[in-house]
Amino acid sequence: MKFVKLLWMTTLAGSVMLNAASDDIATVKKEGVKYIKMLGGALKKELKAHLKNDPSGLEALAFCSGSAEEITKKVNASLPPYAKVRRTALKVRNDKANTPDKTDIEVMKAYEEAMASGTFSPKDIKVVKAGDTTRVYKPLVTQKVCLKCHGSALSPKIAEAIKTAYPHDMATGFKEGDLRGVIVSEIKRQ
Ligand code: HEC
Repeated sequence: MKFVKLLWMTTLAGSVMLNAASDDIATVKKEGVKYIKMLGGALKKELKAHLKNDPSGLEALAFCSGSAEEITKKVNASLPPYAKVRRTALKVRNDKANTPDKTDIEVMKAYEEAMASGTFSPKDIKVVKAGDTTRVYKPLVTQKVCLKCHGSALSPKIAEAIKTAYPHDMATGFKEGDLRGVIVSEIKRQ
């Protein structure tokens, strides 16, 4: 009898622990998504305003090359000390700030495979453990508005400005619906 009770208690404790682990993932995911939206929202707002001001895209491009890194730093400075947020891609424009690491590459390849097999959803937020850090990934799908600076038919002025600011640029030739990159939040809890 005592044995049965003990077994039952162990099972219960086990399931409580499992619930705690999945609650934890849900909490981290929610927190990560919040930081992703902060960075994504800040960049999108500026991009939209500059494109509206100058539809050629040149002003927006100057803004992005001058301030995308700075905005990223500002958003990071407003996060708790255990959290970070950044953008990356398989083909990057800014190879100084946005080069992917091994985990980033694996996640982005998984997104591309899902796209190729028709199972992709832009809402597929991935939560990945990397050492003592939990990463939350959101995919960025190429939209029509992105093609001005990431597509295959860039205006000569845009192409020239990109080449000057980013001599190693690899982030052109995208089509609508391609994976352009990801925003990733890294959360490190003690
Ligand atoms: C006006 C030009 C312009 C437009 C439009 C534009 N981008 Fe970019 N994009 C840039 C520049 C410039 C950079 C490099 C910024 C930096 O120095 O960090 C960049 C960088 C990125 C990066 C970071 C990875 C890398 O390649 O360095 C991602 C992801 C990205 N863009 C996604 C998008 C998406 C998605 C859209 C459409 C919603 C878009 N961009 C529209 C100019 C543009």
